[in-house]
Amino acid sequence: MGKLKVAIFGMGNRGKTYSEWSLGHPSEMEVVQVVDANPTALEYAKGLFHLNDDALFLSFEDWLKAPKVADAVFNCFMDQYHYATTLPLFSRGYDVLLEKPITVHPNELLELMNESKKYGRKFGVCHVLRYSPFYRKAKEVLLSGEIGELVALEMAEHVYIPHMLASYVRGKWKSEAECGSPMIMAKCCHDTDLMCWFNEGSRPTFVSSFGSRSIFTAANKPKDATDRCMSCPHMKECQYSCYFNLELTHMDPIIFQSVVPGKQWNEVTREEKIKVFSEHPSLGKCVFDPPYDIVDHQVLQATFENGVTASLNMIGGTSYPCRTFHLLATSGEIFGVLESNKITVRKYQKDKFWRDTIEYDLGDVAEGHSGGDLKLVEEFVDYLNYGKKSISLTTVEESIDGHLLCIAGDISDKQRKVVEILDNREFRIR
Ligand SMILES: NC(=O)c1ccc[n+]([C@@H]2O[C@H](COP(=O)([O-])OP(=O)(O)OC[C@H]3O[C@@H](n4cnc5c(N)ncnc54)[C@H](O)[C@@H]3O)[C@@H](O)[C@H]2O)c1
Repeated sequence: MGKLKVAIFGMGNRGKTYSEWSLGHPSEMEVVQVVDANPTALEYAKGLFHLNDDALFLSFEDWLKAPKVADAVFNCFMDQYHYATTLPLFSRGYDVLLEKPITVHPNELLELMNESKKYGRKFGVCHVLRYSPFYRKAKEVLLSGEIGELVALEMAEHVYIPHMLASYVRGKWKSEAECGSPMIMAKCCHDTDLMCWFNEGSRPTFVSSFGSRSIFTAANKPKDATDRCMSCPHMKECQYSCYFNLELTHMDPIIFQSVVPGKQWNEVTREEKIKVFSEHPSLGKCVFDPPYDIVDHQVLQATFENGVTASLNMIGGTSYPCRTFHLLATSGEIFGVLESNKITVRKYQKDKFWRDTIEYDLGDVAEGHSGGDLKLVEEFVDYLNYGKKSISLTTVEESIDGHLLCIAGDISDKQRKVVEILDNREFRIR
């Protein structure tokens, strides 16, 4: 195949990142259609990709009625639309790159996988961390066999305060009832995906998980606090106050995406931000007020068919963003802190009765999930154009177990039970 023609679903934060890759690689990929309910996003795409009006669609339903001009769809709509807007694509001859989460329903996961197979379509999932040099190095060391056989995996994810607030307290994933995804899925399906990737070839069998909401609760709201930061007596001292967003702009793309009609996030003025924080239904609201259906910390444990055990500790509302992993194997271990972009490999040396330590410094941390975002597009486009499959490439089949871990973890947390994942990928709740 020659140049890949792509339809972008959702020209928001993710859709922009992936589609803009084509501008630097015009012989590899071309954006030919864009679907977005937000007219400003469509206008932006129109200028960027020199599209005619008949290539722009306000709804998926309108797009479906148009003639087929794309080879593939990059589906970057919000979580709750993924299943319904992906299922009809395979029979129509599209390959698909779908944002995570695929879906939170196990039957839908299998249906999507089976449908893509039935029509012989390629179907990738945006597990961007697999593509970062950091996690890829760990995978390469594991594959080399130099630390022996994997025994256990420890993972941790600390979501620092600005990110927690922008996404999981006031943002798009603040309520499971609204966005469809529990926190363990919305935030941690990358981590569970990495677990399954590191332990490739074996499937998870039992899962237990416990979460709770300890920080963002009614009990922690100061007695005289109001329901909005901008009118609150604690506006300048509360560490969760949106007042600080007026000066500190690093979470702006997430906070202000699609918030001020007719403007891109970086065009929003200070006055408009104040108006948003004073009037928007969720931005600028007191963090101690409802909804309360998202946990702010959760732990998950799992076992795999091959006896490997895995644990993940997600803690939201921390002072520093930090993702770590520790892979323990029969003759060595690998330890890494994503934010440092360094990996330590320790190998047991029998002749010394001691260990050798190797440090891999993977350089400056790149933008976009440590460089994973753009590498994912490059390697997915290579897969579609030339059939090349990198060690990171995440087809839907390879993503299912990581998703099942999150779904089982959520059930376990809510029911305080252990969940068994059966061979046919159904659950038995114990
Ligand atoms: N892979 C990752 O690391 C990663 C990171 C962040 C978000 N995500 C996922 O990517 C997806 C998009 O997130 P985002 O941050 O880009 O969101 P966003 O709100 O910035 O962008 C979504 C865009 O899609 C449009 N849209 C959404 N649903 C639509 C629908 N049904 N019909 C028409 N237009 C629709 C919105 O108007 C918006 O412009 C989400 O599912 C999210 O969970 C993945």
